[in-house]
Amino acid sequence: MTITRPLALSFIALLGMSQAGCPAPSSSAPSHSATAKVSPAAVKSAAPTSAPMAWQDKQLSPDQRAELLLQAMTEDEKLTLVTGYFGVQQAWNHYNFKEARPQSAGFVAGVPRLGFTAQWQTDAGSGVATQREAPPELERTALPSGLLTAATWNPPLAERSGAMIGSEARASGFNVMLAGGVNLMRDPGNGRNFEYGGEDPLLAGTMVGALVRGIQQNHIVATVKHFALNNQERGRDRVNVVIDEAAARMSDLLAFQIAIERGDPGSIMCSYNLVNGVYACQNAWLLNQVLKKDWGFKGYVMTDWGAQHDTVLNANNGLDQETGVAETGKYVWLDKLAAAIRAKQVPQARLDDMVRRIARSLIEKGAVDDPVSPAPIDFAAHAQVTQADAEEGIVLLKNQGVLPLTETVKRIAVIGGHADVGVLSGGGSAQVYAPGGIAVPGLGPKGWPGPTVYSKSSPLEALRAELPKASISWQSGTDLKAAASAAREAEIALVFVTQWTTESADFPITLPDEQDQLVAAVARANKHTVVVLETGGPVLTPWLDQVAGVVEAWYPGSRGGTAIARVLSGAVNPSGHLPVTFPRSLEQLPRPQTAGEGVPDGTHFEVHYDEGAAVGYRRYTKKGLVPQFSFGHGLSYTTFVENKLSARVDNGELKVTFTVRNTGKRPGKRVAQIYVSPEAGGWESPRRLGAFGKVELAPGASQELTLTVDPRLLAIYETQRQAFRVAPGSYRVTLAANAHDAGQGVTVTLPERVIAPKQ
Ligand code: BGC
Repeated sequence: MTITRPLALSFIALLGMSQAGCPAPSSSAPSHSATAKVSPAAVKSAAPTSAPMAWQDKQLSPDQRAELLLQAMTEDEKLTLVTGYFGVQQAWNHYNFKEARPQSAGFVAGVPRLGFTAQWQTDAGSGVATQREAPPELERTALPSGLLTAATWNPPLAERSGAMIGSEARASGFNVMLAGGVNLMRDPGNGRNFEYGGEDPLLAGTMVGALVRGIQQNHIVATVKHFALNNQERGRDRVNVVIDEAAARMSDLLAFQIAIERGDPGSIMCSYNLVNGVYACQNAWLLNQVLKKDWGFKGYVMTDWGAQHDTVLNANNGLDQETGVAETGKYVWLDKLAAAIRAKQVPQARLDDMVRRIARSLIEKGAVDDPVSPAPIDFAAHAQVTQADAEEGIVLLKNQGVLPLTETVKRIAVIGGHADVGVLSGGGSAQVYAPGGIAVPGLGPKGWPGPTVYSKSSPLEALRAELPKASISWQSGTDLKAAASAAREAEIALVFVTQWTTESADFPITLPDEQDQLVAAVARANKHTVVVLETGGPVLTPWLDQVAGVVEAWYPGSRGGTAIARVLSGAVNPSGHLPVTFPRSLEQLPRPQTAGEGVPDGTHFEVHYDEGAAVGYRRYTKKGLVPQFSFGHGLSYTTFVENKLSARVDNGELKVTFTVRNTGKRPGKRVAQIYVSPEAGGWESPRRLGAFGKVELAPGASQELTLTVDPRLLAIYETQRQAFRVAPGSYRVTLAANAHDAGQGVTVTLPERVIAPKQ
C-alpha cells in the first residue's frame, strides 16, 4: 500500500497496525485563493519598498524590531506568519506553493511588502531530510542517529555536528530546522528512539541542547520537539499520557528544560499526544505555564504536522504557529483564527503575541539579516564531521580479548546486515538520503515512512582498507549453513545485524528476520564471533554468552561503515557509552509492550507512566533489576583509573573533583560519570546522573576534572511550591563507570536550596 505523508502522520499500516480515516488524495490541486477566505500576504502584498524600514534597524533589539514589524503589519499579514504549509509538491498537497523548497517539510509565506522573510522548514536531527516525493532525492550528509550522538557524551562534538547539518540546511535554502528531538526513552520499542537523546534528562538535554546550539550558529532557527511526553508512536495522536506533575518535571520536562536552556532554540514543536487529558498543542499547563511562564521561553510554539484540533483552544492555550497544512478546508489557521478573532473568542493580543514571537526568533537567530540562499556544500569536509561523531558514539559492549582486530588476524568472515554495501538509517520524516544514493534499493515499505534506507558506506570495504593484509570473506547471512561455514574457516567472524525503526510505528525489541538464529549459528561455528548491531535503540541479545564481542553501532550515518571498521581495527579507540539501558528481558520493562496494542484505530487510549520520574536506569536501580547492559556502560581498548574524589559546596553549587589516569597502552577517551543520591532516601530512585565529563588521555597521562552538579538533579519538584527544592542534609556523590557500578563515593552536606522558576 502506498501511504501518502499527511495521511500517514496519524495512522500507519505497519506491523499489524491499520490505517484509518484517510481522505482520498485529490488529483487536482485547487488554487489557494479559490478555497481560502484570506490569502497569504505573500500572494497579495505589493512589491517591497527599497527604503529601510524602522523594524530593520539592526541597532535595535530583536524584541524592539519584532514590535515595530508587528505594528507595521496588516491583520492578513499577521495571519500569514502563523500558518504553515507542507513543502512537498504532490497531488495531495493542495497548496503547491512555488516558493516552497521541493520535498521539504514546510513553508510559511513571508511578507514581501515589509521585507520579512518566508520560513522554509526542513527536518531534522541527522541532517537535511527529504520528504520522499519522487527520485532523485536530495542527497545530504547524514549524521548518525540522535541516540548515537548522545552516546558520545561529548557536547562540543554534538555542537559541531549540529553546526554541520545547520550549514547544509542553510545551503539548501532552509531557515528553520525541525531538530532536535529530546523525548526520553521510556519504552525501548518506540520507533523514534533513534531520533532522541536517550533515557536520562541531564544527558539528553545537554546533548540535544548542544546540537541545537550548533544548528543555530548558521543563523537559522532550530526546533526542540516533540513537547511533550510523546514517547511512543503507536496511536501517537490519540494516546493520553497520564503522569503526575512532579514526576514529569523531574524527568521528561527536565530534559526539555535543559535542552532549551543550553540550546536556546527559536521554536518548540508541540506533540500529537494528549497529556493528562489535554492535547499537547492546546495544553495551557504545558505551553503557557511550564514553557512560557516557568521557563521564560521567548520563542514560538509550532504544531507537529497536523497536531492542531481546535482553533480557539490552540490559540488561547499557547500555540503560536500551525504547520503542515496540506488540504484545503481541513484546517487552516489563516481562516479559522481570523474568524475566531473577529468573534472575540481569541483576543487580538494573542495573535500579536504569536507574530511577535515568530518574528523575534527569526530576527534574533539571524535568519532575517542573513537570508538563506542555496550555496555549494563541502561534502568532503562534512564527511569528516559525521565520521568523527560516529567514531565517538559507537559503543563497545562486550570484548573478551577479541578486539581490536590486530594485524596478526589473517582470515576474517564478515556476515550479514548488508555490510557489503552500507549501513542502516532510521525512517520517517527524519530520513536523510546520504550522498551516493540508496545502497540496497527496493526495500519497503513502498510508501511513507519507507523505504528502508541503507546509506552507501560499506563496513566490508572499509575493513578491507583498514586491514589490507587480512583475507576478508563475505556472506549475506541469508543462508545459515553458508554463514556458519564461512565463520568456521575464519579466525574471527563479524556478524552484522540490523533493525530498522521509524517514525509512526513501534517495534518489538527482538531482532527481526531470524537474525538471532544467524548469530547463534555463527557463534557455534566460531567462538571468536563479534556482533555488530545497527539498531534504533536497545534490543534483546539472547546469544550474548556465546559471542566474544558486541559493538553497538546504532544508525551510524553517511560514514558509518568507515567508523565501524576503524573501531573494530583499533584505529579508533571506542569511547561511546550507553545513553539507554539494555534490558535482559521484556519483563524488566515497565510496559513489556507499548500501550495501545489492539486498540481500534480512531479510539483514544491511555498510558499511565506509573514509574513516574524513575525512567530507565532510575527504575532498574530502584527495583534491583540487573539489566543486560547498564546505562553509561561502554568499554575501551585502554584502561583508566579514577581517584582523589572529593566534593564540596562552592558558592551554593555542588562541585566534584577527581583525577582520571589512562593506565593502558593506547590513547583513549574516558567518560566520567557522577551519580548522586540523598543518604536519607526519598527520591524516585537510589541514584541519578548528576554530572558527566569526557576527557582524552595519552597512555600514562592523567587529568584533574571538576564537574558541577545541576541542583535540579539534587532536588525534588514540589508542586505546592511550584519549584525544585534541595532538602538540606547528607548526599552521596559516586564516581562510577555506569549506573549500576558501585564505584567510589564521598559524602557531602548540602544546605536547603529552592530553585525558583524563571519568572
Ligand atoms: C513529525 C515531526 C516532523 C514533521 C514534519 C511529523 O510527522 O512528527 O517530527 O518535524 O512531521 O515533517
